[in-house]
Amino acid sequence: MKKYNISLLPGDGTGPEVVNEAVKILENTKSNYDIEFNFTNNDLGGDRYLKSNELVTSKDLEELGSSDAILLGAIGHPDVKPGILEQGILLNLRKEFDQYINLRPVVLYPGVETPLANKGSEDINFTVVRENTEGLYAGAGGYIHYGTENEVATQESINTWKAINRCIVYAFEYAKQNNRKKVTLCAKTNVLTYAHDLWERIFNDVSESYPDIETDYGHVDAVCMWMVKNPEWFDVIVTDNMFGDIITDLGAMIQGGMGIAAGGNINPEGVSMFEPIGGSAPKYTGMNVINPLACIAAASMMLNQLGEEQYAKDIENGIIKTAQKLESLSAGKMGMSTSDVGDAVLSTILDN
Ligand code: IPM
Ligand code: MN
Repeated sequence: MKKYNISLLPGDGTGPEVVNEAVKILENTKSNYDIEFNFTNNDLGGDRYLKSNELVTSKDLEELGSSDAILLGAIGHPDVKPGILEQGILLNLRKEFDQYINLRPVVLYPGVETPLANKGSEDINFTVVRENTEGLYAGAGGYIHYGTENEVATQESINTWKAINRCIVYAFEYAKQNNRKKVTLCAKTNVLTYAHDLWERIFNDVSESYPDIETDYGHVDAVCMWMVKNPEWFDVIVTDNMFGDIITDLGAMIQGGMGIAAGGNINPEGVSMFEPIGGSAPKYTGMNVINPLACIAAASMMLNQLGEEQYAKDIENGIIKTAQKLESLSAGKMGMSTSDVGDAVLSTILDN
């Protein structure tokens, strides 16, 4: 019997509801895989911050750091100024645990509606590998003459050989292990002539060790265009933090929306954190109408990272079958409640 310690960070808004569904599925299926989970709940989030002014404490870090993986619901609270929780919790955890990859599969499951005309599940199936620790997210910059008409604000994109190299190596290894044929570098070498020149040189160097994998390059603006017009061109896309943030929201939309899009903040040598990529959806909180599939998909990615590939696949199949039964993937329009959707996924796994 294998045993995994999982830290749950249900967080804010609808986060707890979706994490609940994922945990329900894991609790009720684990014995089929001879697995035991030890779940620990952590109350990080907006409510705790408002009560105690605490974001992430050293005790939190110790607790989360001693787990095998973290499953996050959502961070974001209507009464907290935008930026505080995102920076103080989400980005902070990504950095503290050196989760240097943000892995975001963009897969349109059969029967799920996409806003792209004439595109189906055979066309939309790629993965974005986003650098997750630096670039414009590094926090380098500052103000001079704050609050005056002479104010200057800078925000620099930090690009180190080490971080780029490990990200690109990850992308090629991911392609190799998942039978993907092509890796596309998404950057802006025509304008970011230093930072993205470095990305391109490393991309070319690393690609030489993977002669069987095709390579391609797209400027980020063109990649946005092709993701809409010819998403079938993409297989694995590797990109920097900011561009990865932007193109994965576009990716989430073409795969059916935030109700289904999941991602992993991965440290292959450490503790990884998995999350539905949508927000905390405060207006749907407590109504049992939010779509839990994205969080269940995050749990499936988590199992994959833990090495439980079959278990991960079975949950993904449950998601695919359940998605087909929903009237829509959007909150409030599913034709089923949050807990019914969780039950539907659970029963398809148990029926296997
Ligand atoms: C995401 C989010 C975060 C990001 C925000 C909330 C800081 O948009 O996970 O994509 O920009 O990375
Ligand atoms: Mn984002």
